[in-house]
Amino acid sequence: MNLTEKYESIINQILENEFAIIDGLFESENLTRLRNEVIKKDKTHQLSQAKIGKSDKRIHDNSVRTDDILWIENNSNIEDEQSYIKAVEQFYTYLNNACFTGISEFECHYARYGAGTFYKTHIDRFKNDSGRKFSLITYLNDSWKKDDGGELKLHLENELILIEPIFARTIIFKSHLIKHEVLLSNTNRYSLTGWLK
Ligand code: OGA
Ligand code: NI
Repeated sequence: MNLTEKYESIINQILENEFAIIDGLFESENLTRLRNEVIKKDKTHQLSQAKIGKSDKRIHDNSVRTDDILWIENNSNIEDEQSYIKAVEQFYTYLNNACFTGISEFECHYARYGAGTFYKTHIDRFKNDSGRKFSLITYLNDSWKKDDGGELKLHLENELILIEPIFARTIIFKSHLIKHEVLLSNTNRYSLTGWLK
């Protein structure tokens, strides 16, 4: 599939299922370097424990989520972070033109789920927050295997879907609609987790 075909596939999947799963949406060379980047940042303790809730009410809650994150600045001077942001912009521009989604912003963080971590069932949009339209997650795990765990589980109305967090796989879903969780991870699990607003 070329890029336009991938975009079309995503749109068709979202129209049909409210979520899309697509492999190779972003350049693997770019993602390999971002994987190295997050590992480097992780080793130098730049990631910190993720919180839940909105703005001033944000708290750590180890019963809900235990991943570590680092936000990516939109004006980052790291070339590979810029390339990823640009590629996401290209995608949502296409989506806006095709579906009138009106997206104008992307926010994104690195995430690491270490051994023994998880994120219990939740929705990505806070009450009274109409900001997040779509969640967009790209996985950076180059040799993921079943024993590693950390699958993303989508709780659809009539179905549970398990998604393996393999390298260069992207998952996109409507932030206010889809309940989801990250199952127990048994090893370091890296991703770029973001929202289209
Ligand atoms: C989140 C989330 C899922 C994943 O960060 O809100 O649900 O697969 N992440 O990393
Ligand atoms: Ni989530």
